[in-house]
Amino acid sequence: MVDEAAFVDEAVEGIRGSIGDGNAVIALSGGVDSSTAAALAHRAIGERLTPVYVDTGLMRKGETAQIRETFAFMDSLRIVDARSRFLETLEGVTDPEAKRHAIGEQFIREFERVAREVDADNLVQGTIYPDRIESEGTIKSHHNVGGLPDVVDFESIVEPMGELYKDEVRAVARRLELESVVSERMPFPGPGLSVRILGEVTEEKLTVLREATHIVEDELKEHDPWQAFAALIGKATGVKGDNRVHGWIVAVRSVESRDGMTARAQELPWETLQRLQSRITGSTENVARVVYDVTHKPPATIEYE
Ligand code: XMP
Repeated sequence: MVDEAAFVDEAVEGIRGSIGDGNAVIALSGGVDSSTAAALAHRAIGERLTPVYVDTGLMRKGETAQIRETFAFMDSLRIVDARSRFLETLEGVTDPEAKRHAIGEQFIREFERVAREVDADNLVQGTIYPDRIESEGTIKSHHNVGGLPDVVDFESIVEPMGELYKDEVRAVARRLELESVVSERMPFPGPGLSVRILGEVTEEKLTVLREATHIVEDELKEHDPWQAFAALIGKATGVKGDNRVHGWIVAVRSVESRDGMTARAQELPWETLQRLQSRITGSTENVARVVYDVTHKPPATIEYE
């Protein structure tokens, strides 16, 4: 475990050293990693940092409003509403890697536009140690690692947390007095809800999933999982009133982990599972079935795609 106070001082100095009197941008997702990196960089260079939050439409309920509030102290924050462009780009795309790729490309386009506008010559990234390890292998193409620097010609790429694990990042976030909604927030993948929708991403699926995700996070927070979420994994028959319906199957996943590289499916009380089932099927007419995923990582990954 790092000494947080010393880490913050060193990181701030390091960022100042790398950026000098230039400008920098950071892609802010609202997750703990990019938020902590943004807070460190803001401490180092103030408003010469432009944090860019791209609202992809693949975010969780209330997330954009939360970002606006949490980072209100950064006047330079830019919020880009790209929801319709992302939906368009994802139309008809079903292959998991093609989806990630399409999202990554669109993200770069949105981000690049702002970087040019603010004349940023430096890029700050919230990359942490496990991201680098997984990207070196062939496990998955993490769109927040590796993609951006090749496209925009930055003078320097600053990754102040490249040696840290998630729990260390949280400790640093607490030290920086980032709101607990940020420092204690569950990890959330860069491609957002799209990796929890099997097949094509549509607005209808996103609406169902956003609500189900909210219920799962809310219902399971007392069990303190590393990550807990819902996924839309297909359709099945159900009965609503007197009618047979063809509705969504929502999978609930709740895992314990230290760094996301391995994970254990959480053992949850039956009453909790039943309450989840009842809230999720009650929240929308379109959910016919709720299942609980009991698979560890390995052999499964945490996300569905
Ligand atoms: P998997 O699904 O590979 O996930 O077991 C391990 C951890 O990484 C997160 N994850 C991602 N994070 N971009 C990210 O920033 C991604 O593309 C991505 N895919 C997975 C996942 O939520 C889990 O915490």
